[in-house]
Amino acid sequence: MTQFPNTVLSQPEAAPGRTAFDFKLSHLSFEKFREIIYTSCGIYFQDNKKYLLESRLMKRISHLGMESYDEYFDYLKYNRNSEEEKKYLYEAITINETFFFRNPPQLDALVTTVVPELVAAKRKTGRTRLRIWSAASSSGEEAYSVGIIIADLLKPKYPDLEVEITGTDINQTVIETARSGLFKEYSIRNTPGYYLKKYFKPKGNAFEIDPKIKKDVSFKIMNLYDDNAMRSMVNFDIIFCANVLIYFDIKAKMKVVSNLYNSLNKGGYLFIGYAETLHMISKAFTIVSFPKTIGYKKE
Ligand SMILES: C[S@@+](CC[C@H](N)C(=O)[O-])C[C@H]1O[C@@H](n2cnc3c(N)ncnc32)[C@H](O)[C@@H]1O
Repeated sequence: MTQFPNTVLSQPEAAPGRTAFDFKLSHLSFEKFREIIYTSCGIYFQDNKKYLLESRLMKRISHLGMESYDEYFDYLKYNRNSEEEKKYLYEAITINETFFFRNPPQLDALVTTVVPELVAAKRKTGRTRLRIWSAASSSGEEAYSVGIIIADLLKPKYPDLEVEITGTDINQTVIETARSGLFKEYSIRNTPGYYLKKYFKPKGNAFEIDPKIKKDVSFKIMNLYDDNAMRSMVNFDIIFCANVLIYFDIKAKMKVVSNLYNSLNKGGYLFIGYAETLHMISKAFTIVSFPKTIGYKKE
């Protein structure tokens, strides 16, 4: 297998019979990768992110023992394992930053308004069951934070409340972490001490989420840009889709948000990230203001 040094300056000589790896991704190759990535998952690499794609692809190419970006491109495009390889591509290119209690105003909105409103409506149908989706959940911290808040602040108030929380992400490794329920200190850095003590147990150098929370939360691999997969996600009352739309271009944002709209029940809410907006993306929702945050409601 070809070994790659850390810097371009220390580029090795080619082994006899092999050409040296060209560490520079040409603009033409960058455009080919950008296109295949975009059409597969909606992530759009701007020109100024070429260096990022270059280094991330290089790690995967190095692992496969390939000798050029073009060899890897052909493998991705034409190999019969290309769908399988795309899973590794997604692992290489996605940014999975997340942590527990990342967006407290959204959690407050759930407690003060959203869940009470949905519970009142559900009770009329005879079953108080809420379906919540953390779309692009990364390793699950958002989904579990919602689970904790519901268990601690809402179930005591609404004993008939049942919840089903689903986390999905395109990256298989983060989904495995989410399923393990084990988190490093970095993930819990914003967790209030009360919840940390009550719902986490130290395990080796990690923290394990309480099984009482875990039982209501499940995870699966899913590509938000895949219309077929999206069509299977229906009847949700609340969707969190935070800090992922920023990686898409406007066309991809519109497509994903329109599918999320279809996944919501009438009266349901969509929450996106602090720095994100649906301005110019969708007019289908009613904007609802809460202290320090907004929600998008499907009327
Ligand atoms: C920055 S994390 C956000 C995690 C969490 N929602 C939060 O706000 O803390 C973005 C996640 O989006 C996922 N992602 C990117 N493109 C995706 C796609 N097309 N379908 C599903 N997930 C995607 C990445 O794998 C990554 O885990």
